Amino acid sequence: MEIGMLHSHVLVVTLFLLFLLFKTILLLANKKELLTKIRTKLKMVDPILGVLMLATGGYLLSLYGAAAPTYLWVKLIIVLIIIPIGIVSFKKENKAMAIITLILTFCIYGVSEVGSLNFSKGETVAVNTESPANDAQEVIIDGAIADLLKTGKEVYLAECKKCHGKGGKKGLFKSPDLTESKLNLSERVAWIKKGQGVMPAYENELSESEIEAVALYLDELK
Ligand code: HEC
Repeated sequence: MEIGMLHSHVLVVTLFLLFLLFKTILLLANKKELLTKIRTKLKMVDPILGVLMLATGGYLLSLYGAAAPTYLWVKLIIVLIIIPIGIVSFKKENKAMAIITLILTFCIYGVSEVGSLNFSKGETVAVNTESPANDAQEVIIDGAIADLLKTGKEVYLAECKKCHGKGGKKGLFKSPDLTESKLNLSERVAWIKKGQGVMPAYENELSESEIEAVALYLDELK
């Protein structure tokens, strides 16, 4: 989901930028008739791309929550400024405004690429956490783990809680305290698949990914 969203966002922004570049070139080259024709024929393209850009970007921003770096907020504000300026500049065929729009758009593109407001990669890359690619990857990985743990918890509460208890310590049928278990992840996966004694085998009850998710979730009990 997050990967798809990031790709869609980059795609939409790139399309927006290319379309803007194309229109600016036509305007600067005084191809006003062609520009008007394109603008009337494709008049929904900018609003649609604008909305998609904000929707996908907004979603990605929401993944960061309070941890969103400043440059992302600045980017959002610039985008909110660019959209109306862009619309007005082509409507009024104002070359200066069109160039400003284009420059601002390239700037936010650049800000995204390096992940900082002063365009210096310097330290941010050295610590290797603040470049947007890494931020995005981290968000994606954190998101995937969170999804997995969520599934794991659901499976645990539905299947395992009755014997092991919510916190893993219930010990029904002499089941061991899961918070004390020394089994590693792959041993737990194997155990859950095969079961033992009173504990049922889940091989045919749960999917492979549900088993892995619940095995991972057991670490959360510790
Ligand atoms: C019907 C009761 C029951 C249910 C339901 C159950 N277990 Fe168990 N579980 C046991 C018992 C009893 C043992 C100990 C079996 C033995 O050692 O022979 C055990 C052992 C384990 C162990 C091994 C711990 C160790 O360190 O030895 C793990 C891991 C485990 N269960 C996970 C789960 C998970 C995950 C689920 C749900 C998908 C689950 N169990 C559902 C009863 C249950």
